[in-house]
Amino acid sequence: MILVTGATGLIGRPLIERLVEAGAKVRAVTRAPSAAVLPAGVEVVPGDPRQPETIALDGVTSVLLNPRAVGTAAPELLRLAAQHGARRAVALSALNVDLPLERQPSRLRGDFNKEVEQAAVESGLEWVSLRSGYYADNTLRSWGAQIRAGDVVRGAHPEARWAPLHELDLAAVAAQALLTDTLLSRKPVLTGPEALTPPQLIARIAEATGRPLRFEEVSPDEARRQLESTGVPGQVAAAFIALEADSYGQPDLVSPEVERALGRPALPFSHWAGLHRSDFTG
Ligand SMILES: NC(=O)c1ccc[n+]([C@@H]2O[C@H](COP(=O)([O-])OP(=O)(O)OC[C@H]3O[C@@H](n4cnc5c(N)ncnc54)[C@H](OP(=O)(O)O)[C@@H]3O)[C@@H](O)[C@H]2O)c1
Repeated sequence: MILVTGATGLIGRPLIERLVEAGAKVRAVTRAPSAAVLPAGVEVVPGDPRQPETIALDGVTSVLLNPRAVGTAAPELLRLAAQHGARRAVALSALNVDLPLERQPSRLRGDFNKEVEQAAVESGLEWVSLRSGYYADNTLRSWGAQIRAGDVVRGAHPEARWAPLHELDLAAVAAQALLTDTLLSRKPVLTGPEALTPPQLIARIAEATGRPLRFEEVSPDEARRQLESTGVPGQVAAAFIALEADSYGQPDLVSPEVERALGRPALPFSHWAGLHRSDFTG
């Protein structure tokens, strides 16, 4: 039985679909089971991964740790799971976990990716830590509101570069880490197949939506205000904009690990934009 934390989220849903397709038994933990709407056959259990004692762990053999769901409780969750016979932990971590803490903006919203990876490594269980880069979904979080409101997307760094990772690829690699031994004791860096600037990303969203979208450069302060107006906390927005500047000129943004794991190229951003067309048109 595979216990999936973060089951109702961006990565959890496609991961569970993959696991169910592969015939695995899945227990999905959520704070709101009645709203979960997961595939038939999945055991949906109530619980808060930040309070591991609230989770049914009988029969669990592997645990998928989503840092957003587990907070700082990963060591305790894995300790209890091991007591119940669990053998494997797979962490959804991030490629920036070795950078200084101020270069890890997600920490400011309670995603302790570094500590969750460490908990998996030090658990005594078999482990895998998936060090993901920039999720393609970030483009929706950053620009969705602007695109739904008009054709101009404002940002501070037209030459920033990201290699957006498709959630379907991350879910497929996570399924492999849970179901096979090929990634054991590894921390593969996962990215999309191409590094793209904001104007290039917006051009692909324009193509997918059929809209004449264009990028407009604004000051970092204006870009931060723009992000804050969509609900991103100020500190997170500022740290994210600093990371954009850091990405200038970096040569090695694209990792081959998704293709290595899946035996096919990572999905391009244009595929992701097509899948999420309606999220941008509202
Ligand atoms: N964005 C990026 O570029 C990027 C890159 C690398 C790594 N990451 C990391 O990926 C993780 C996010 O994964 P995701 O997008 O799948 O997450 P998500 O969709 O935002 O959330 C996953 C689930 O976690 C549960 N959850 C959310 N907040 C919670 C809280 N305060 N307490 C307990 N449970 C909570 C919710 O489930 P219920 O409501 O059903 O309980 C939610 O559906 C983070 O650790 C992030 O740092 C992100």
